[in-house]
Amino acid sequence: MSGEEPGFEGDISMTIRLIGKLAAGAAMIALTAGAAKAAEQVEVLHWWTSGGEAAALNVLKENLAKQGIGWKDMPVAGGAGSAAMTALRARVTAGDPPTAVQLLGFDLRDWSEMGVAANLDDLAAKEGWDKVIPEALQAFSKYDGHWVAAPVNIHSTNWLWLNKAAFDKAGGKQPTNMDELFTMLDAFKAQGITALAHGGVPWQDGTLWEAVVLSVGGPDFYKKAVLDADPTALSGDTMKKVFDDMSKLRTYFDPNFSGREWNLSTALVIEGKAGAQEMGDWSKGEWLRAKKTPGTDFVCMRFPGTQGSVLFNADQFMMFDVGDEQKAAQMKMASAVEDPAFQIAFNTVKGSVPARTDISDEKFDDCAKKGMKDLAEASSKGTLMGSLAHGYAQPAAVKEAMLDVITQHLNGQLTTDAALKRLPEAVAAAK
Ligand code: GAL
Repeated sequence: MSGEEPGFEGDISMTIRLIGKLAAGAAMIALTAGAAKAAEQVEVLHWWTSGGEAAALNVLKENLAKQGIGWKDMPVAGGAGSAAMTALRARVTAGDPPTAVQLLGFDLRDWSEMGVAANLDDLAAKEGWDKVIPEALQAFSKYDGHWVAAPVNIHSTNWLWLNKAAFDKAGGKQPTNMDELFTMLDAFKAQGITALAHGGVPWQDGTLWEAVVLSVGGPDFYKKAVLDADPTALSGDTMKKVFDDMSKLRTYFDPNFSGREWNLSTALVIEGKAGAQEMGDWSKGEWLRAKKTPGTDFVCMRFPGTQGSVLFNADQFMMFDVGDEQKAAQMKMASAVEDPAFQIAFNTVKGSVPARTDISDEKFDDCAKKGMKDLAEASSKGTLMGSLAHGYAQPAAVKEAMLDVITQHLNGQLTTDAALKRLPEAVAAAK
């Protein structure tokens, strides 16, 4: 036996060595496969988590899958992306940014300023982006003259979405100013439904507020008050009317509005439990997903009194500097996003309109056709203006400061007079 033991031990140690070698080999194979996989994969941070948003994002995932590019999803729920920005900060600080990130307006500039953006100039030149992406977007897709982001779409925020049955019952006449809007909301109330479906979170409060600013003051006032953050405009009589109207609109909300996500409010209108919702046209994505048709089941109209102007918001995928091994997949993703066929396939689901000016409206529904026409008109008239709530009017600090005052006022924590005093002060402090 004793003679066998060393042999036995020898066998064991040989086996262990063999297993060790095999494991090392396997690890090597896994590593190589991993590297190959990483080269063909994009990791995407976004906040498209509602039904309509996820369906639209799927169009991109499938497009990339066909090209053999894997998708690592990093969804961070929360409309308008404030939670997503916190998650992004953590990744960038750790030196490990995702491949592509959904970003809006001034946030694109802030991140680019940190020197973490990839350079898309070669691709943009090859595909002629300069000629087809509207100037208003390019101002944010480029940093220091270099392309850093691929614009996906153009949304706009000054829309009102109506349940068609409730609207017909209320007389079927589209309101053209705030007074007529209040009359229609009264009619919804009389039907025993929630008149205005609203979710009480700062970005949604701001989305409603900016539409009211445009309605009450018109485009020149919007420019002064919101784009220039002029202290006189922020505290004068026109702004007083805006805040008074906001207080009045509040009386048409249901008691559960506080903190509600935007898509749940859309669902109330879809189900006929509410009459109207003021929201960007991503809300149409929810209607479409519920198999509803514009003109039959719902009405899309410009927020009363804002016809002729467009408050825009455009989703862009900013590409981060992730090193050469991921660059090929990253460029393929950017190229896929600007592909005209993709622009149609994605935007018809998302509710937005293309980020390119050379795409026919033929495949789009009536709301999007109107959106594209309004956009062209506003762009030529100089009434295409950035949305505050979605980061295209002011840098993040000023935006947050303004939304703070707007939300506090809407929730009754500030009187109108106090809000008029606080608004210019908050802006000045944030600058
Ligand atoms: C916006 C974004 C839209 C939409 C919305 C709600 O900021 O640009 O694409 O999804 O948030 O999540």
